[in-house]
Amino acid sequence: MTSSSLSQQVQSLAQEAEVALNAANSLEDLQIFSTQYLGKKSPLQDLFKALKDLTPEEKKEIGPKINQLRDKLQAGHDHKKKSLEKDALDTKLKDDWIDVTKSYPQRKGSLHPISHIQRKVEEVFFSMGFEIADGPEVELEWNNFDALNIPQTHPARDMQDTFFISTDSDDPKQNSVLRTHGTCIDIRKMIEKGVPIRTIAPARVFRNEAIDATHDAIFYQVDGLLVDKHISLAHLKSMIERMLSAIFEKEIKVRIRPGYFPFVEPGLEIDIWWEYTDKNGTPRAKWLEFMGAGMVHPNVFRNCGVDPEEYSGFAFGFGLTRLAMMKYGIEDIRLLFSQKKEFLEQF
Ligand code: DAH
Repeated sequence: MTSSSLSQQVQSLAQEAEVALNAANSLEDLQIFSTQYLGKKSPLQDLFKALKDLTPEEKKEIGPKINQLRDKLQAGHDHKKKSLEKDALDTKLKDDWIDVTKSYPQRKGSLHPISHIQRKVEEVFFSMGFEIADGPEVELEWNNFDALNIPQTHPARDMQDTFFISTDSDDPKQNSVLRTHGTCIDIRKMIEKGVPIRTIAPARVFRNEAIDATHDAIFYQVDGLLVDKHISLAHLKSMIERMLSAIFEKEIKVRIRPGYFPFVEPGLEIDIWWEYTDKNGTPRAKWLEFMGAGMVHPNVFRNCGVDPEEYSGFAFGFGLTRLAMMKYGIEDIRLLFSQKKEFLEQF
């Protein structure tokens, strides 16, 4: 091959390649271009091979031209590749774009009926100047029983009723139980804060009971305590009536009977006149035992370092679980902790 025909070939290849490069509009096209014009079997390589038949002078003249063509094609290819890759990324970003301001239909959770009623109760007492008190679920035997004037021999301490955690010691301040009522929080708070005091303590409590539609081994209570100078039963009665009417959002009639709880004297049982509709839709009403209450026993005061000659007060306790069941007409306690979605979604 002569140097002039080789030189012509370089030129025509340059033109052809330029057209091909301009026509390559995708990364796939560009890949084909690269194989066709820059690959091992490309006409460019044939030109390099043809060089060897030329004289040294001719090589000097044509060689650089072929080199230039190769560099030009490579640079053109690289430039185009970059721009095609950028286009591809732009398109992808545009397609994958998310409107973060758009709102998708959301499934919201709802409060558990126990939380619902607990908040309601807290709200009512908070407005009456009570503080919300808390205590541990694993409680000292002493706080749960002894300090509350519940003697060692009291049946409530029996293994049948109480989940004991440790019983190794003769000293009830060393042993622990799962608290069986929220009243132990009254002890903690009186010792911690002294008197006068007004607290309510929502509490999860534990009893070793057989489980059925109205009993569970784990349930919720609220215990209340008000201690000051010159507090009497009259205060207790008026407060209970106000509290119940606020919780049930209607006038609630109460009946007070004597009752026995070791930590109060006198002790009271408080019933409420409960109007409801039975399964057949017939309206009915009956007295329902609702809560225990009474004037704090002098021994309890003494155990907490409070002088019973100077201070008096009342305490009361009721079942929050029971209250939720009454207020929402839930007939089986087990439903409350069944985690059944259909049930929980109603609240
Ligand atoms: N602790 C009692 C129980 O679990 C309820 C109770 C009764 C609490 C009378 C009190 C009270 O504070 O004065 O059955």
